[in-house]
Amino acid sequence: MHFSHFFNNNYFNFEFLQDVYVPFSGTLESTVTKKTFSAFLAERLEQAERTVLISCPPNINEKKFYKYLSHYGTINNYFFYETFGAYAVVEFSGTEDIAALKESTCIPRLQHECAVPFKSRLFNLRKNNVGELSTAQSSVQCLKLSAIPHSELLRKISGAETIDQQLHTVCEEYQLTEENTRLRFLVCSLVKDIAAAYFPECSIKPFGSSVNNFGKMGCDLDMFLDLDGISGRNNVKPTGAFSVEYHTKRVASERVATQSILSVIGECIDQFAPGCVGIQKILNARCPLVRFSHQPSGFQCDLTANNRIAMRSTELLYIYADIDPRVRALVFSIRCWARVHGITSSIPGAWITNFSLTMMVLFFLQRRKSPIIQTLDQLRDLAGPKDKLAIGGHDCTFVTDVSKLKPSQNRETLEQLLQEFFEYYGSFPFKGMSINIRKGREQNKPEVSPLHIQNPFEQSLNVSKNVNQTQLDKFVKAARESAWILQQEGMNHSTTKSEHWGLATLLIPSTQVSEGKGRKKRREPASERIKHLLESLKRTNRQVKM
Ligand code: CTP
Ligand code: MG
Repeated sequence: MHFSHFFNNNYFNFEFLQDVYVPFSGTLESTVTKKTFSAFLAERLEQAERTVLISCPPNINEKKFYKYLSHYGTINNYFFYETFGAYAVVEFSGTEDIAALKESTCIPRLQHECAVPFKSRLFNLRKNNVGELSTAQSSVQCLKLSAIPHSELLRKISGAETIDQQLHTVCEEYQLTEENTRLRFLVCSLVKDIAAAYFPECSIKPFGSSVNNFGKMGCDLDMFLDLDGISGRNNVKPTGAFSVEYHTKRVASERVATQSILSVIGECIDQFAPGCVGIQKILNARCPLVRFSHQPSGFQCDLTANNRIAMRSTELLYIYADIDPRVRALVFSIRCWARVHGITSSIPGAWITNFSLTMMVLFFLQRRKSPIIQTLDQLRDLAGPKDKLAIGGHDCTFVTDVSKLKPSQNRETLEQLLQEFFEYYGSFPFKGMSINIRKGREQNKPEVSPLHIQNPFEQSLNVSKNVNQTQLDKFVKAARESAWILQQEGMNHSTTKSEHWGLATLLIPSTQVSEGKGRKKRREPASERIKHLLESLKRTNRQVKM
């Protein structure tokens, strides 16, 4: 619809949002799609280019809002969300609509400050007629950006009929929503507008959990500044008498170039980008990055460049998530379990990261008697000519179209897999062995790190190099205890079902357990003892089955 007759409506007016300091909050979701990763990225990036972010006044009337904005162009889609204040994400049908909106938008005149006149796609919507503020009746429905509170999650999963349903519920409740995904792409697109001042042909793509199908509401937003699309790199030298090339600045290495580009763009984000605060340049890291908060969305952003391998591992996880629905259900549940038990943390340190944990789940699923997912080498062997890719001499080839993969014959339930996951890692030979999803079998550890998970592409790297022995021990102990609890739960199924049961029993924070809330108090045997008890239980079970 195009409400051109509202063109002269002066109920609202727009101004470019120069610097709104909204307190931090945040979360979002996305759904699994059968699209190839590159098609998904291309579609979402293009959509984000046609989208704007608008800070709205209180009690905004949705109908008037829609009518007002529609006179700039056709609105394809919009939604409101709340952080501290209401925001609207509005997708127009074309970028020319945004140009029309910008045309009539004013730069604010401030009394004691000066607005930096950078025209972004983040706007403030003002009500001209203050008298109408109180008359607004149908105020908008705002989505929440945060994950469901933990107590509510426990209540929901305890209401499920089976442990399998419980794992699927964790996944459904925690996964990024469609709106959250849109907002993530929009924030990338807004940051791209800054970088494009220097590199007009650049793009900024999300990677990591925002797009790998394992993102939880509230996860950080990893961004990749892609300069490879800049034309001219692959131009063939003409054969005539002359040829022209750009006179470029030369620096010692690609790393130095990345550092200086990120430094300058980080500076611009700091000085000019509305809503971006707390900029930190972490340029000496193995992978240099600029970290900041995007306050209107509440996202913690990590901007990197020259990070193509991470982009490819994101695509690999995206594929694995699509192979079998049990993959996501198990990964989300194990991530949730690890967070509750302090095995992972939002603060960087010697903890196991979500990425490492995901690799451990994938490896476990490859190790089933009848594997649920293929090894990376098998995915490489199924690759077509278009899937071939080498980055910096590393083989990054794998099949990118999931429909080419045969579904697994494995029929194990999630309940079985959860139980076995804990047992598997409760007695994994971490001392001598390394986890390797490329081969799908453990390998001799090439170095002394307590936990060794081989990077699937840069095979000399350990994904979990940061993890110390204490943190690994914590994981092993928690895995053994959880295996033990599940074994017991299995036997007392009907009696425990009234309160928290099954997976919920494993997700009760340890502070509550020590206070005796929720979970039945049980004498907790030491980790080694649990291991032996589990082994004897398994033996007994096997004998019963035979
Ligand atoms: N990555 C990697 N090697 C590492 C750490 C990260 O290749 N040692 C890549 C992975 O592709 C990962 C991405 O960088 O997905 C982002 O890293 P990070 O934010 O730590 O992990 P996420 O998968 O995004 O998980 P989270 O939700 O915890 O942010
Ligand atoms: Mg991340």
